[in-house]
Amino acid sequence: MASTAPAPYITSSLPHTHSLPQQHTTPPSYPYQHQHPHMDSSLFVQDDQQVELPLIDLQLLCQEDAAEIHKLLIGAKEWGFLQVANHSVSCKLLSEIEQQAYHAFTLPAEAKARAEPAAGSAHGYLPKSSGADGKKPRLNEALRVPLNPEKRADMIIKLWPEGNEAFSSVVEEYIAAVESILLQLLRSFASGLGLDPLQFTHDLSRDGISAVLRMNFYNASSQPLPTLAFQAHSDPQILTILHQNGVDGLQILKDNKWIAVKPRFGSFVVNVGDLLQVMSNDLYPSVIHRVVMKSDKFRSSLVLAVTPHPQAIVRPAPQLVTEQRPSQYVPFAADEYFSSMDFLAFNVAKSHLHKFRSIPTLA
Ligand code: OGA
Ligand code: NI
Repeated sequence: MASTAPAPYITSSLPHTHSLPQQHTTPPSYPYQHQHPHMDSSLFVQDDQQVELPLIDLQLLCQEDAAEIHKLLIGAKEWGFLQVANHSVSCKLLSEIEQQAYHAFTLPAEAKARAEPAAGSAHGYLPKSSGADGKKPRLNEALRVPLNPEKRADMIIKLWPEGNEAFSSVVEEYIAAVESILLQLLRSFASGLGLDPLQFTHDLSRDGISAVLRMNFYNASSQPLPTLAFQAHSDPQILTILHQNGVDGLQILKDNKWIAVKPRFGSFVVNVGDLLQVMSNDLYPSVIHRVVMKSDKFRSSLVLAVTPHPQAIVRPAPQLVTEQRPSQYVPFAADEYFSSMDFLAFNVAKSHLHKFRSIPTLA
């Protein structure tokens, strides 16, 4: 019974099929087209290169169903990416948070500008930019919403000086709901490997530069299509959960080929981050991915990842280090890893793992 996929969610009442209001339909022209290796005809992915990722039933994981845990481990090993259904996040909550994200991104430009990150901070609103204005080049708009409640309140007040209770409460509810999915998945990874179920959840934190709910907003109107909308990268944290509105665009790099992920309504995409690759001693790969827009429908996504305390030491789980598979990494502090990245640049999360390998490799 529990293995049946849930009824498809109608995730949004928003106008997916419509272009944005006028103020957003004339983005500055993009100088990127000739600069990046991925900005070429390879953005097209043939239908036969579109895949359905392994689908994991969260309720079965909660029940410690051995076959489902096995499916999780095999899927993560083979793909680094999975989809998760039967997760008990209501379609109402998904619809509400999409609407709140839409409200934030369609605020007047002055309001969004107030929420741009202060020096030294990676929280707040990041505009789409060609880089010509002195800002970091970015292909999409993003809002980096802190997981720390006080920092989150500070950011919300900048966007809405009068406050926005609906945004605050929906975001809080969403963070709690998707974090609990990530925690369950990490427990299942650990128990499937025969480790202490809490092995991968020690030292998690809602603070630090990488502890954000990232809201992405893509508007490809007036762009030549298809267009690269999020540069190829891997996610630096432990495990990421992604919710997309009804518009697809996610592609993952598998065996050196770009493959489009077929959206499944109502399911989340989950992917292994750089730090789980380390903690699993390279058992689970942190896979490179990107977003390619094929239409001018607006696309929004919500990305949340579990991340360790900045001072936590990250290293392969000792039980996964054997004579046959020695430790692939030297231990390092989480903030050492994150501080080597530029979170405000659009190609932020290019993996830096090579720097921490026991036998150093080139980038
Ligand atoms: C990210 C990301 C994908 C998407 O924000 O790290 O990979 O679909 N986003 O927006
Ligand atoms: Ni990503």
